[in-house]
Amino acid sequence: MAQNFLPYGRHCIDEADIAAVSAVLRGDFLTTGPNVDAFETAFAAAVDAPYAISCANGTAALHLAMLALDVGEGDACIVPTITFLATANCARYAGAEVVFADVDPDTGLMTAATFEAALAKAKARGLRPRVVLPVHLSGHAVAIDELAEIAEREGLAIVEDACHAIGSQVRTGGTWRPVGACSRSAMSVFSFHPVKTIACGEGGAVTTRDPALAKRLKRLRSHGMVREAAEMSDSSLSLDAGGLANPWSYEMPDIGFNYRQTDIQSALGLSQLRKLDHFKSRRAGLAAAYDKALARCGNWVAPVRPPTHSRATLHLYVALIDFDAIGVTRAQAMRKLHEQGIGTQVHYIPVHRQPYYVARYGGEWLEGAERYYKRCLSLPLFPDMADSDVERVVRALETLPVLAPAV
Ligand SMILES: Cc1ncc(COP(=O)(O)O)c(C=O)c1O
Repeated sequence: MAQNFLPYGRHCIDEADIAAVSAVLRGDFLTTGPNVDAFETAFAAAVDAPYAISCANGTAALHLAMLALDVGEGDACIVPTITFLATANCARYAGAEVVFADVDPDTGLMTAATFEAALAKAKARGLRPRVVLPVHLSGHAVAIDELAEIAEREGLAIVEDACHAIGSQVRTGGTWRPVGACSRSAMSVFSFHPVKTIACGEGGAVTTRDPALAKRLKRLRSHGMVREAAEMSDSSLSLDAGGLANPWSYEMPDIGFNYRQTDIQSALGLSQLRKLDHFKSRRAGLAAAYDKALARCGNWVAPVRPPTHSRATLHLYVALIDFDAIGVTRAQAMRKLHEQGIGTQVHYIPVHRQPYYVARYGGEWLEGAERYYKRCLSLPLFPDMADSDVERVVRALETLPVLAPAV
């Protein structure tokens, strides 16, 4: 019997989601409508942040965060090299330079030591380190207190790339806090791309505790426009003789973008958020099943071990595989798994090795990233998977070795 194909990640849409989107399509607002505010309020509550500013996608959220901090030419943004391209690219959009940090070889996460090394590199290049963008890879939180101590000492803002970490918690100041609460950071950035923990189609958000940043982010995501009389400076353009804003008036104090999230996307996001607890427990259950089943395979394969300061809601389930020891390349393994209906992926090619960055900064060798990259393979993980699918994936993995690995 043909088995269904298991992708490495997949959205989970039910009739309630479809009804929520249909209601918007039958209503008055397709772009900015009541669902945008409602989604922002609900998302802010879910991560315990006072402000959530929704936007078009996670990449736009990163760009907005750079603009809100006035990052620009001569500045350096420190970015772990094991991440998606967008974490680094946002610095370049703003005109800043990227300084790549190495990562822990067993978790793929930036550490205090790799952050310090990247800071030294930035200074040696004559750059002003302004922002650090730690990534909560796969949903595993970075050691935010350790990074924050260094960032405070050096005067850097922290922008957490939390695109993988919706529903994760991090230990800070001795207590557990949701990732996104920004307890030790200026802002946190999220993506609602379909493979993420909640899906809006495309969608993103920035959370912050700072009202001035929240205001700036809102303005920047909509062309840099203001409409309130109190914020307008050129009265000839904007105000009538009585000092009231003309009904048609808007002013552009800063240049901005159209990075808005639509009402359609927001309605879907709101409906998905109502199921966040279910998504969290289902992902946790599947991850525990993988942990248990992989333990019988032998020491050539092991899950990424969660750091002690992190309680993850996993976006990705990453296995670290010693491909040399089992005598197959990763590409051969992925093809063989694909033939059995199992999709896998590699998260990520170290960004500093991308041709654009090699041309800009020259090549460099980041040992921890190489060791992580060489072994990582993301296995299927999404809430609609059956428990028996985990067994199916692990049984397929067990067929991979062509050499008996040393015990
Ligand atoms: C770590 C990380 N940062 C940023 C992004 C960008 O998010 P989006 O695809 O919503 O633009 C992604 C998405 O894949 C991501 O995984």
